[in-house]
Amino acid sequence: MVLRCIASTCILLFYFVCGLPGLRCDAARADEDKLFIGRKSILRYKPAAASSLGKGPKKNLTLPEPTSYGYLDVNAEKGSAMYYMYYEAQEANSDDDDVPIVLWLQGGPGCSSFFGMLYINGPYFVNDDLTLRRNLGTWNRIYGMLFIEQPVGVGFSKRGTAVIPDNELSVAWDLYRALQSFFRNNAHLQSRPLIITGESYAGKYVPSISHFILQATARANGFEERLRHPRKLSDKVEAPLFHLGGLAIGNGFTDAETQTAVQAQVAWGMGLIDSVQLKVAEQLQDQVIELVRSREWRAARNMSDVLLAYIATSSGSATLEDVRRNTGYDSRNQVDAYLNSPHLRELLAPSGVPPASALPWVSCSSEVDHIMGHDVMKSVKNLVADLLDYMPVLLYQGQWDAECGVGSNDAWIHTLQWHGHGGFTAARREFWRVNGRIAGYWKSYSTLDVLVLRNLGHMVPHDNPLIGQLMLERWVEIAVRGLPYDRDAGVTPEEEEEYSNPDQAEHST
Ligand SMILES: *[C@@H]1O[C@H](CO)[C@@H](O)[C@H](O)[C@H]1NC(C)=O
Ligand SMILES: *[C@@H]1O[C@H](CO)[C@@H](O)[C@H](O)[C@H]1NC(C)=O
Repeated sequence: MVLRCIASTCILLFYFVCGLPGLRCDAARADEDKLFIGRKSILRYKPAAASSLGKGPKKNLTLPEPTSYGYLDVNAEKGSAMYYMYYEAQEANSDDDDVPIVLWLQGGPGCSSFFGMLYINGPYFVNDDLTLRRNLGTWNRIYGMLFIEQPVGVGFSKRGTAVIPDNELSVAWDLYRALQSFFRNNAHLQSRPLIITGESYAGKYVPSISHFILQATARANGFEERLRHPRKLSDKVEAPLFHLGGLAIGNGFTDAETQTAVQAQVAWGMGLIDSVQLKVAEQLQDQVIELVRSREWRAARNMSDVLLAYIATSSGSATLEDVRRNTGYDSRNQVDAYLNSPHLRELLAPSGVPPASALPWVSCSSEVDHIMGHDVMKSVKNLVADLLDYMPVLLYQGQWDAECGVGSNDAWIHTLQWHGHGGFTAARREFWRVNGRIAGYWKSYSTLDVLVLRNLGHMVPHDNPLIGQLMLERWVEIAVRGLPYDRDAGVTPEEEEEYSNPDQAEHST
């Protein structure tokens, strides 16, 4: 892949000073002297010296070991608050004082980031006996990692007298307030770039919160009018206490119309339906698109569910999220069982979490899903176009997802009107090799990276923790920080074996 920015300052500069669509990093660098980022004076973080993750004894744990956890105020007057856990980087170069912090958002709508924390890319996976084992492929090997349960109404988060938000802008404002609370309580972390990541329906959350931060930053720095797709932000939105380094979305749902338009074809191409069933699916698909165009949002969502159910039923798929699987992801609800277990609840009680009898934890809230139901089919694609003017964006997809997979994302990405549209279309799609084999197809141009992961499904870091970790680290080091990265070239078969997730093999054979 192409190394676009030689120094991370380039991206920062681009972000704070330029704001002109089409302006490349090189052009911006000349203005470096004028750049002022006030946060640099704040207390520097000293990461722990490299500790060689995973070389120690592999004992099962009963409790997680977050660096900090608890409630973050959203709206103090109304008593709404989001629950979070933060894990400091497990190993980081000790002279690196700008270690990024990765925020992970789960989809749904209504699913909790703590599901991802214990099933996808956090430091642990849950065993059958509700002990924890370390996930060597965690995304917090060399970065801090933040999991926030959002929107309010999800997981341990508290609604108070506030309403559960029913649109992306309100969802983003609530999360923004929680992030402000986090960085206010942790002033020593304010200088470190925040990388916002998530999967599936977070294909809407991630652009929405990122754009909210961009717009708040632009307002505070006097370039709000340069955004092409600004939203109506309240006057009460404070200037951010932190800065955004970039965003990444896995198997995302971002632009309902273009993504729905290829749904039947994708299923046919994967062999899930034949050409007779394809006709039926295409008719359903056309109805969904009609409803989207006539802005009948709730009905469009319902019809989209009918389309997906038709494909799943016709093919006998346990889940369209990975058509190789014989069961849905976490079909035994181990994450729910763990987060309701007495020993875990004892740990959390002092931070204000009610007992499981009063607040059972569920991975996905059906109430939030229902309230957000009319928002599902609304596109946030234009927000991505704005974001690409200022910061790196990674869009990655596991290949065996028939719901929000490769074709589905390729369809909207190639219709995106952004400054690099022509260059991206013309760019070469490169092989990404890990341990000599092709792990994926990587296409980059300017601020956009698109990566397809071979042999993986909807939950890339769950399906192959090592590949998920290498992917994130490669993109963050090169595209966000402007640093070299070559760990993926030296992976051994033993490491591949050691990092693998037995759940994936168990449920796919
Ligand atoms: C950890 O738990 C798993 C699943 O319950 C079990 O198979 C494994 O033997 C345990 N490992 C240790 C070291 O106790
Ligand atoms: C969509 O489905 C929900 C849940 O089944 C139902 O309550 C609602 O009435 C449906 N709305 C439309 C417009 O079809």
